[in-house]
Amino acid sequence: MNATKNLKQDHILVNRLGKIAKRCSDLLYSNVVIPIEDIKIISMLIQEFVDKFHHGKEEKAYFPRMIDKNNYSEDIRKFLIEHELGRRIAKMLVQSLLAWDSGIDSREPVARFLNAYSVFISIHTGKENLFFDLIEERGSLSEDEHSLLMKHYKVCHSDAGGKARVEQMTKLIGYLEERDWMRE
Ligand SMILES: [Fe+2]
Ligand SMILES: [Fe+2]
Repeated sequence: MNATKNLKQDHILVNRLGKIAKRCSDLLYSNVVIPIEDIKIISMLIQEFVDKFHHGKEEKAYFPRMIDKNNYSEDIRKFLIEHELGRRIAKMLVQSLLAWDSGIDSREPVARFLNAYSVFISIHTGKENLFFDLIEERGSLSEDEHSLLMKHYKVCHSDAGGKARVEQMTKLIGYLEERDWMRE
């Protein structure tokens, strides 16, 4: 495992979550009843796993290390703007869920923001994967830099609530995939 592959590995989990969000959105649009607790888990995972943990690793460790190399700064600038877009969609999803909780029928906005998030995350990780492939092809990171970044990721683990918390979040993605409404 190296620092680039580590992020690509995260993308697999992130995209599993994106697929869950998409399925949930489609079902809400066709008036299938989905427990709000499950949608709250999706929303929590978007904020904690994608934003805080995965984007945290990119923003605090990986991108700062790459920004001065091989004209990567323009790509990185775009990725950071996309992270902000993701955070905005996530915030609107949270607000719609709060409204839903307070008794306002919010199925439509919740479905809309879940769909928006799934589209965003699939395009965003797709672009980053191409960027990471290029970095690997060019060998833009030395062994030392990889191990330095892996150490930095450990700090990001703690920032996201520790190793156990991150493992628990990973399991929650599997939990959601096993829910009846996901398997129908
Ligand atoms: Fe990213
Ligand atoms: Fe990423």
